[in-house]
Amino acid sequence: MHGLLKVMDTIILGIESSCDDTSAAVIKNGILLSNVVAGQAVHEAYGGVVPELASRAHQQNVVPVVHEALKRAGVTKEQLSAIAFTRGPGLMGSLLVGVSFAKGMARSLNIPMIDVNHLQGHVLAHFIKEADGEARQPKFPFVCLLVSGGNSQIILVKSYKDMEVLGQTIDDAAGEAIDKCSKIMGLGYPGGPIIDRLARQGNPKAYTFSKPHIAGYDYSFSGLKTSFLYSLRDWLKDDADFIEHHKEDLAASLEATIVDILMSKLLKVTKDLHIREVAVAGGVSANTGLRNAFHEYAERYKWNIYIPKFGYTTDNAAMIAITGYFKYLDKDFCSIDKPAYSRVGL
Ligand code: KG4
Repeated sequence: MHGLLKVMDTIILGIESSCDDTSAAVIKNGILLSNVVAGQAVHEAYGGVVPELASRAHQQNVVPVVHEALKRAGVTKEQLSAIAFTRGPGLMGSLLVGVSFAKGMARSLNIPMIDVNHLQGHVLAHFIKEADGEARQPKFPFVCLLVSGGNSQIILVKSYKDMEVLGQTIDDAAGEAIDKCSKIMGLGYPGGPIIDRLARQGNPKAYTFSKPHIAGYDYSFSGLKTSFLYSLRDWLKDDADFIEHHKEDLAASLEATIVDILMSKLLKVTKDLHIREVAVAGGVSANTGLRNAFHEYAERYKWNIYIPKFGYTTDNAAMIAITGYFKYLDKDFCSIDKPAYSRVGL
C-alpha cells in the first residue's frame, strides 16, 4: 500500500530442556502467546533427577509440547521468525534433546537458530510480557539473586546481554540444600515446595543451624546441610519419631536459615553498589519465606523489588523465548555447529 511499510511480526519459538522440564513457548513481538511445561514425575521415586530417565522423557515430550505451544499461540511453524533453545548449562543428555530438536526444526524451516544461556534466561524472565499483564520491569542496572536447584548467584545486570556474577555458591546451591535436607527428613522430591508448605505451620526460631562465614559475596550451603544432618541424628537418638513430631518447626527453621544467608549477602551487595533495584529469579524464588523477606527488605531498605510470577520461577521456555527475542533483535544468531554445553557461567 502506498506510504505504508508492511511491518513483519517477529515470532520466536523457545525450547527449554536443561533438566527435568520439557517446555516450549511462543513470543510474538515481545508478547508471550503460550508457555507449555511438561514435568517429569518419573524422578519422584528416586528422590532426585535421574539424568538418563530425564533425557528419555524429553524425547517423548518434546514433539507434543512444541505442537501444543504453537497450537495455543495460534501460530503455524511457517510463521516462525527463529527458534531459541537452551544451550546450557544443564544435564548433557537433557540438553541434547532440546538442542538437536531446535536445530533440526530451524534448519528444516530455513530460519535462524538462537542459543540461550539458561541462567541469562532466568534473569530475563523479568521481561516476559503477557498480553493483559502489568509491564513492571526492573531498570538497568539492577541486582538479581538467582537461586535454583543448580545455582545460587548474585548478578549485576547492566543490560539484557551484559551481566556480571558478583558472588556465587562455592559448593551446594540453595535449592540443592533444601532438596537434600528434605531427603534427609524422608519427605518427597523436590523438597522445595514441601519444605515451603510445612514451614508455614512451624516456628522459624525453634532450631538453630550453622551459618557459613565466607568472605565477599559468595555463598556456601554444604555446611548447613551437614549441621542439619548431625543435629537430626542427635535428636533422633532421644526420640525415634522426632522428625514426624517436629517437621513443621524443622522446615521453618531450615527455611529461615537459608533465607537469612541469601538475604544478608544480597543486602551487602546493594549497599556496596548503592543499587536499590533488586530482583530474584530461579526455582527457589517460588519460596514463600524468601518472597516475604524481599517485601520486608523493600520496606526497610527502600528497595524496588521484582519477583517473577510462580510459573516463571522454575524452568520454563517463556524465559528462553524472551531472551531469544532480544538476541533476534540484535541479529545474534547461532550456527548449527555450536554444541550443547553442560557447564558454563553467564
Ligand atoms: O530453577 P529450577 O526449576 O531448576 C533449576 O535448578 O534450574 O529450580 C528448582 C529448585 C529445586 O531445588 C526446588 O526444590 C526449588 O527450586 N523450589 C523451591 C520451591 N519451589 C521450587 N524451593 C523452596 N521453596 C519453593 N516453594
